[in-house]
Amino acid sequence: MEAVRVTDNIYWVGAIDWNIRNFHGYTTPRGSTYNAYLMTGEKNILIDTVKRPFLDQLLARIGSVIDPKDIDLIVSNHTEMDHSSSLLEMQKLTGAKVLASKKGKEGLALHYPDLKVEAVEDGTEIRCGGKTLKFIDTPMLHWPDSMFTYVQEDKLLFSMDAFGQHYATYARFDDQVDEGILFQEAAKYYANIILPSGPEW
Ligand SMILES: [Fe+2]
Repeated sequence: MEAVRVTDNIYWVGAIDWNIRNFHGYTTPRGSTYNAYLMTGEKNILIDTVKRPFLDQLLARIGSVIDPKDIDLIVSNHTEMDHSSSLLEMQKLTGAKVLASKKGKEGLALHYPDLKVEAVEDGTEIRCGGKTLKFIDTPMLHWPDSMFTYVQEDKLLFSMDAFGQHYATYARFDDQVDEGILFQEAAKYYANIILPSGPEW
């Protein structure tokens, strides 16, 4: 399994779940994908992980770029299990520090008491590999902990679940798939996951 290059020194290293047919009580006939990203530089940073049964896919894809043990920092944008349930194993393997929002740190402590997490304030910036990562709190998109990570130089947003679709595919970019299917799944995801947690208008 290979990582997929997104831009200079940033790779998709997530996992494809062809078989899942139910998520939060609604049907997922096209399966799903767990998105994680690797940023390489003077420090190697992992953005999110994957659902625990898919850890092998994550490790294999990271391994096609760097030794997974060489990850220095892990960013947890979202505490839900499909993002976080490989965090503990990845921290044991790498010794990497895990960063999360304040609410993310609280939530992760409840799920994984042995995980060491450092909270980052909304708007915090860090530099890596000549790039700037900015952490942006996005509460209730769609849990209190939710956070975006933005790479300023690439104008690249790691948006966790905010613009999700449940869609298993070998394609990684929206112009590589059927647009009708893509927007059907995006609308279904928005209606079931994002909209119910948002503000009342
Ligand atoms: Fe989620």
